[in-house]
Amino acid sequence: MCGIVGYTGREQAAGILLDGLRKLEYRGYDSAGIAVRNGAEQAQVVKTLGKLDSLISLTDGGKTLMGKCGIGHTRWATHGVPSVANAHPHVSGNCRNTGNGPVESAVVGVHNGIIENYMELKEKLLTHGYMFYSETDTEVLVKLVDYYYRKYKIGPIDAINRTMVRARGSYALTLMFTDYPGEIYAARKDSPLIIGRTEDASFLASDVPAILNYTRDVYYIQNHQSARITPDSVTFFDLNGDKVVLPETHIEWDALSAEKDGYEHFMLKEIHEQPKVVSNTLKALDFQSIGLTDTVLKGIRQICITGCGSAWHVGMAAQYVIEDLASVPVRVELASEFRYRSIPFSEGTLVIVISQSGETADSLAALRKAKECGLMVLAVVNVMGSSIAREADFVLHTVAGPEISVATTKAFSAQLICMDLFAIQLGYVKGLISQEKYDFYIKEASLLPDKIQMILDDKQKLQWLSTKLAAQKSMFFIGRSLDYSICLEGSLKMKEISYIHSEAYAAGELKHGTISLIEEGTVVLGVMTEKSVLEKTYSNMVECKARGAYLVSIVSGNTGKLKEIDFNICIPDCDAVFTPSLAIVPLQLLSYYTSINRGLDVDKPRNLAKSVTVE
Ligand code: AGP
Repeated sequence: MCGIVGYTGREQAAGILLDGLRKLEYRGYDSAGIAVRNGAEQAQVVKTLGKLDSLISLTDGGKTLMGKCGIGHTRWATHGVPSVANAHPHVSGNCRNTGNGPVESAVVGVHNGIIENYMELKEKLLTHGYMFYSETDTEVLVKLVDYYYRKYKIGPIDAINRTMVRARGSYALTLMFTDYPGEIYAARKDSPLIIGRTEDASFLASDVPAILNYTRDVYYIQNHQSARITPDSVTFFDLNGDKVVLPETHIEWDALSAEKDGYEHFMLKEIHEQPKVVSNTLKALDFQSIGLTDTVLKGIRQICITGCGSAWHVGMAAQYVIEDLASVPVRVELASEFRYRSIPFSEGTLVIVISQSGETADSLAALRKAKECGLMVLAVVNVMGSSIAREADFVLHTVAGPEISVATTKAFSAQLICMDLFAIQLGYVKGLISQEKYDFYIKEASLLPDKIQMILDDKQKLQWLSTKLAAQKSMFFIGRSLDYSICLEGSLKMKEISYIHSEAYAAGELKHGTISLIEEGTVVLGVMTEKSVLEKTYSNMVECKARGAYLVSIVSGNTGKLKEIDFNICIPDCDAVFTPSLAIVPLQLLSYYTSINRGLDVDKPRNLAKSVTVE
């Protein structure tokens, strides 16, 4: 998703803005731009297509732009192709905003989100003499603010409030008004926006890493709120223009954890952080303290887990474990579907929303749908203070620290272990798990970090295999039961960072059609850690071998050599409940090394964003 930064203070703004945008590169983008004001002069706008490096070289690292107040943006195209004209910042004047130089405009702005009724608003503005140089909804939004600002001769906050009443959709909007030098204005609905303060400067960002080097004291502006930001203060307003007071949050993350720590890529670093992350998450889990008391747990009759992408895969794994250990029926719904369904939930349903970022639009909408239906919502999130965390009834924080790589790894593992422990707690409270069995599970879980480390210490074989996979056009991941949920995640990892088409299939389903795609050399990877169904999945693998497939298997500890397998990956043994936490690690490494072998941008894969805050 787009990245937003803003600064107003005693220092030159351009370098701070570019540094902040650099920290937001992981969010995925296709163009970038900044606008800087020197005192009361018009803003200087510089925009470029492609990577941030060209913006940095165009402005000589920001030195060509003097001024202590500015905003910046990295754009992930939604409305309009990636181009300089469509890049942000956008301006209200009828000038051609070609992106280099001063602009005669009352309002200059950047935006993250989608304005759903922008065409209707554009038509309205055209009748009032506005012209448009871009295809974006953001230019419409900036000009709508300008329209109210000029027409009613009102201040920035009132113009923004009128705009918020008219515009439908999502926005994190950051603006500068020529008549108000040194000041920045902001407004928010759904798309995240953070405002940071120091003694003599204010910062804005769409995510914490952009300002962590400058301040840890931040405010999370809420929906339908606006803000006036100066070097000395920040003032928040509600939709009526009345002042509101927001709590200041102190960010605990250390700046180093948002850096690569000597690893070549954030993804490799985050894969290697998993032993620590799983251990920290296990230590932090305390269901009572978040309100999931024995009484609440005993009252749960049905569970609906929802999320997107990898978070949904965690739900698929959790379904097996919860039903197995706690005998509570679980359904798993894609959040993008859930939000439009009319599901007849029974009394005592708990909805669990899983989200690393806590800002995924579909997952947030699903949460709100569940709340509208009067259901209890448990959020499993990694980013504290995120929208999903704030709107849920109960919040389980996965203690994974900032996850920068677009492809999730450590947050996925933290979510998995969270859900396993939730299932164990639920089964224990319902009297279906004895104290002895409970103690066994807790002990098993405590051994996972070391077992993950063992896999990480033995990755040479995976590096070799990845050179073979790098030449593949397509791959199949097959498995049964819990293994199937890991196939889903392994397949997504391979697709999203190595761009190899792959499908995850329930092993028993392959012969109902898809096996027709197997031909000489097709790689079929079988996740076969579930001993109870190993033989069946192995048979499905052999059926593929008979049609020319190259077989890769993931088996646990004491499984003997399987004759027809071409490449076998063995993971440490553990109780079946926890095998996904181990089986996913070689798949993460395989996708990472395959992407490297294909010379791809591992941390910032094409077309992807770290947090999809639009529908
Ligand atoms: C996973 O590697 C992807 N980056 C993506 O599927 C992600 O899991 C999904 O967009 C959900 O994001 P969230 O956990 O932040 O809600």
